Amino acid sequence: MKSLIDILDLSVNEIDNLIDTANDIIANPEKYAHKCQGKKLATLFFEPSTRTRLSFEAAMYELGGNVLGFSEAQSSSSSKGESVADTVKVVGYYADIIAMRHPKEGAPLVASYNAGVPVINAGDGGHNHPTQTLTDLLTIKREKGRLDNLTVGFCGDLKFGRTVHSLIGALSRYENVKIVLVSPKELTVPEYIKKEVLEAKNIEFIETTDLESAMPDLDILYMTRVQRERFFNEQDYIRLKDSYILTPEKLEIAKNDLCILHPLPRVNEIKVAVDKDSRAKYFEQAKNGKYIRMALILKLLEVE
Ligand code: NCD
Repeated sequence: MKSLIDILDLSVNEIDNLIDTANDIIANPEKYAHKCQGKKLATLFFEPSTRTRLSFEAAMYELGGNVLGFSEAQSSSSSKGESVADTVKVVGYYADIIAMRHPKEGAPLVASYNAGVPVINAGDGGHNHPTQTLTDLLTIKREKGRLDNLTVGFCGDLKFGRTVHSLIGALSRYENVKIVLVSPKELTVPEYIKKEVLEAKNIEFIETTDLESAMPDLDILYMTRVQRERFFNEQDYIRLKDSYILTPEKLEIAKNDLCILHPLPRVNEIKVAVDKDSRAKYFEQAKNGKYIRMALILKLLEVE
């Protein structure tokens, strides 16, 4: 029984296979419509979500399976003081696979030790978000035709942005990927990612506060929301929230085939006027999330 807690739980080869399956699902959805008949997915969301939870649920329905779960901690027995370990031990009796989002870093890992069924980390605090990364990789592969030889800019809240952490980990395994980290000084990528991923794997990377100077080199621009819910005080959030706002004017110096991504939800960091730009791929990215999660459910349930 395999769980997905960290994107590095999957080999590059396994990720390639998931991307191939997702592309096949997009091309031939009817082939997959009954693959999970009689199976149940539990979505245990202790933190808000729109895309992640609903794309997981849509994914399971489109595979012919069923879904149960809760979308806020308040409506589960965790509000009575139950531990994650106890909750998932029981949910493992009711469901064949669990997708869990939790504000505590490491909670899905603890769940995977106790559930008796595969557990998927659907976001743990400011730590990791591996299924968003699969979504991002599928989108990059579909848009650029490759995952190597890319200059990827990450912009915004690189400290608390869990999608950034997981995507950097994934990209560090492809040839000739250069990383440009654009953030305010207060929101730089955590030290452990610089040491254990970027430096350990000899990835070429720069840190800057200046998006404009980085823009012309980028193949991918990954914008992120400032993660208000992780701040210790509101003043800091207010001071930093509008550090970067992408506008059509700022994109004039970017490559014609730039691919603009954002895990969503967007707050203020991409002007709505950018949506019309053919390089804006963030809604396409959200759409892809359902297909790669279908592929992941098939893999973890070992469905042929
Ligand atoms: C992200 C998350 O939850 O980390 N959203 C998502 O899953 N698509 C990004 C965010 O909330 O800013």
